[in-house]
Amino acid sequence: MNVIVVYASRYGSTRGIAEFIAEKLREHGTQAEARSVDAAPRPEEYDAVVIGSAVYMEHWMKEAAEFVRRNQTALADRPVWLFSSGPLELEQGAGPDDPELEPREIGEFRESIHPRGHRVFFGALKPKFASSGSLTH
Ligand SMILES: Cc1cc2nc3c(=O)[nH]c(=O)nc-3n(C[C@H](O)[C@H](O)[C@H](O)COP(=O)(O)O)c2cc1C
Repeated sequence: MNVIVVYASRYGSTRGIAEFIAEKLREHGTQAEARSVDAAPRPEEYDAVVIGSAVYMEHWMKEAAEFVRRNQTALADRPVWLFSSGPLELEQGAGPDDPELEPREIGEFRESIHPRGHRVFFGALKPKFASSGSLTH
């Protein structure tokens, strides 16, 4: 089985999650690679597809949503899992699977490509000044 993990990431944390997923799949003996959505990977060339996007203002990144729409036929035809990297903190009692945290596009994608699942992961924010040492004590 050959799996591609496609990601859309503005500051890198979603890329990190995608690379982690690909690495774990390889550790379990599955051929897997993580690729940016910008590299226009072709789902037809893989047996299964994982797609993840950072969430901004309750939406997937445009490139990720367009990737799903553009490749709808191929994606509907093979096993697909989705993930979103978003919440930086949760209100008390809430969990990452809280429906309120679900990006707006996921309902549409459930209808159009029937993903096997959608998972929300905690996000991370890496502001530019982090590299200057302002956040290290
Ligand atoms: C301006 C802004 C808006 C955001 N909006 C949301 C949001 O609506 N929902 C959410 O869960 N996370 C939101 N986040 C958190 C990001 O999704 C989180 O930092 C994510 O891990 C960033 O991924 P990236 O590093 O791959 O770009 C927002 C962050 C910023 C800076």
